[in-house]
Order: sequence, then structure tokens, then C-alpha cells
Amino acid sequence: MYETRVLSGMRPTGSLHLGHFHGVLKNWIRLQAEYPCLYFVADWHALTTDYEKPGDLQQNCWDMVIDWLAAGVDPQQATLFIQSQVPEHAELHLLLSMMTPLGWLERVPTYKDQQAKLADRDLGTYGFLGYPLLQSADILIYRAKYVPVGEDQVPHVEFTREVARRFNHLYGREPGYEDKARAAVKKMGTKKARLLNELRTGFLERGEAEALSRAQALLEEQQNLSRGDRERLYGWLEGGGKKILVEPEALLTEAARMTGLDGEKMSKSYGNTIALREEPEAVAKKIRAMPTDPARVKRSDPGNPDKCPVWTLHQIYSDEDRKAWVRKGCTTAGIGCLDCKQPVIQAIQAELAPMRERAQAYLDDPTLVKNIVADGCDKAKKLATETMRDVREAIGLAYS
Ligand code: TRP
Ligand code: SF4
Repeated sequence: MYETRVLSGMRPTGSLHLGHFHGVLKNWIRLQAEYPCLYFVADWHALTTDYEKPGDLQQNCWDMVIDWLAAGVDPQQATLFIQSQVPEHAELHLLLSMMTPLGWLERVPTYKDQQAKLADRDLGTYGFLGYPLLQSADILIYRAKYVPVGEDQVPHVEFTREVARRFNHLYGREPGYEDKARAAVKKMGTKKARLLNELRTGFLERGEAEALSRAQALLEEQQNLSRGDRERLYGWLEGGGKKILVEPEALLTEAARMTGLDGEKMSKSYGNTIALREEPEAVAKKIRAMPTDPARVKRSDPGNPDKCPVWTLHQIYSDEDRKAWVRKGCTTAGIGCLDCKQPVIQAIQAELAPMRERAQAYLDDPTLVKNIVADGCDKAKKLATETMRDVREAIGLAYS
């Protein structure tokens, strides 16, 4: 019914590293060619855990957007914006908060997990409890179908589906809904109307999933329906009310868990990262200093790649031939660890060179970035405004 939109957000953590590139950004870049994509800086989300010192929030925002662009996120294809610049998110969050049971929020796994993990911070706030719902508003306000996220965020997308369902259930049944739906079916012409009715019965009474998708396809190609009728009929096909909000699906980012310099997951808080704008010399220095299989004390000691963090980098950067060269050379002590690291150093330097170049252009002229984001905010705001009009109308807040 709606175009297939993709939406994802990232907290403004400042400059990004290779873990972000291989884990998230490559995925964003692939999707931007296939769907209308919206990518945003979740600056309000940053405040849910760091409200005490928002200090470099803005600088972190710009640095992160520069890294998105440097990595290849294309503002011609994707809409890039900042959450707080589209305050409609807050309005939807507020309205959803009225109908969201407290228990749903308390049961979100990140709630207790994060409180335990970030024990040094005060997470006993209203904002922190409500942050999955803020995320739901981020997603639902664009009627996004797909939400690319890592594993830890999947429960938030599931939660969002429940919120959308509850909203549609509460507000999708306007007075005279059934009659209006039937009148809309009639507008499709006798033949198509009969077919649609048969397919609906097939789905509702006999559970034929195939019938439902054929019925949806039929609506898809129907030109003369108003937006309101369309929303009505999509819901009516499934025996529910109007579908005002769209239930999203998580697109699980393949767990490309990039290993950091110490063998742990690459993460800023562990201080084991290679930044996307890292200088070539710094890359070489960091990789040369990486620990290897502890069994290789001397050059003549054979090693085992499976016990070595450098090997996980070869798995990202090396083809089969080179991986065979590593395995053989390592297990027979035929190569030294510095020999082994050299092709990884070169591969990372080659990967980062065009990114550093692109980033430089934006650093030299910051108005470029500001303009891209201003454009993105305008586009996002238009879409958000459309949804909010429907939402207000459904709840009964459309004063005029
Ligand atoms: N909560 C996400 C994170 O911490 C960021 C985020 C906010 C997000 N809103 C979103 C991700 C909407 C996807 C969709 O990483
Ligand atoms: Fe690791 Fe390569 Fe050294 Fe083997 S040779 S221990 S894989 S760095």
C-alpha cells in the first residue's frame, strides 16, 4: 500500500570505525540502491543515557554524518537527517505513550540489561524507560517496512510491531467502518469486487495465505482508490480495522562482528578500533602491534590461525589463495607474523584511502554537509507530516 521504505538510525557517537563500516554501513549502502532509504542521527536517543553531559553532541553528529558520506552513503539516493530537527517524532511518541502499557516497556530486554551494564549512569528516568517507544515513533512515522539493525535491536522492532497493531486496533475502526470498506470494494467494479470478496473469505475462513497476497496484489494495481479507502481495505482484508501505521520488519545485519585490535569486538569503549579516517601510518602501526597466537613466541614457533585475531581480519580482507598462504605459513612457521600482517595493512589502507579523501572534502567545506542534512530534514519532515495528519485524524485531534 505504501512504498517500501527502509529506515535506520544511529546514535551520534562521533567518528566511526571499521566495525561500523563492515557491520552497518555496507548494508546501508547496499539498501540505498534498492529502496527509498531514510538514515538519521538519533540525537535524542543519545540523551536518554547521557543527558548529564550532552557536551559534544553536535560535533559528534557532524563527524558521524561525514563518516557516513565518506563510507559511501549517497545523499542522492538516501535521505539523511537529524532526529531532533523533525520534532514530529516527539508528537507521535507522546501520542503512542498514552496507549502503551507500562509492562511492555519494562519487559524490553535492553531495559534491565543496560541498567546493569551502565551502572555508573542514572538510568532510572522516564526517558530511558520510554526510549524503545521513541524508537517506535522514529520507525512508524515514516511507515518504514524494513529496519536494518543489529541483533540487540531486534526486540525493539518487534515491540514496534505490537505498538502499531495496538494503535490500528484502537483507532482503525472508525464509525461505520464495515460499510465504508464495502462501499470501497464496490468502487472496484463488479468483477474485481467479487474476486476480492472471495479471496478475503479464503483467507479469513480457511487461512489461505496465498489468497491474502493475491488480494493485496489486486489492491496494489487498483488505480482509482483514495488513500483512505486503501488504508481501510488493507485492514479489512485481514479482518481488522484501517491500517494507519505499518508494522515494520527487522532486517538483521549479518553478524559481521568485526574483531578489534585486541581480539575483542571492535568498540570505542574498548579502545581497540581503527577509525574510518585513520592515517595510513597509524593503521600500519596499530596492526603491527596487534597480538597474535600466544604460542608463537619465537619466529620459529609454529602457530594456529584459529587462535589469532589477525586471522579474523584475513577472513574479511583476503581471498582464498591468501588465506591458504596464511594457514600454511603460520602452522609451519614458514612466515613471520609481520609478513602475515602486511597484506592486511595494505588492504585496510586501500579501503580507507577513498574514504579519507571524501571526508576531507566535507571537512574543507562544512556547509556541504549542513546542506545535505538540511535537505534531508525537509524531506523527512514532509513524510512525517503526512503520517501525523492521518494519526491525528484517527484519534480525533484534527481540529479545523
Ligand atoms: N536505538 C538504536 C541504537 O541504539 C538507534 C535507533 C534509534 C534506531 N531509532 C531507531 C535504529 C530507529 C533503527 C530504527 O542503536
Ligand atoms: Fe596470526 Fe598470522 Fe602470526 Fe599466524 S602468522 S599467529 S595467523 S599473525
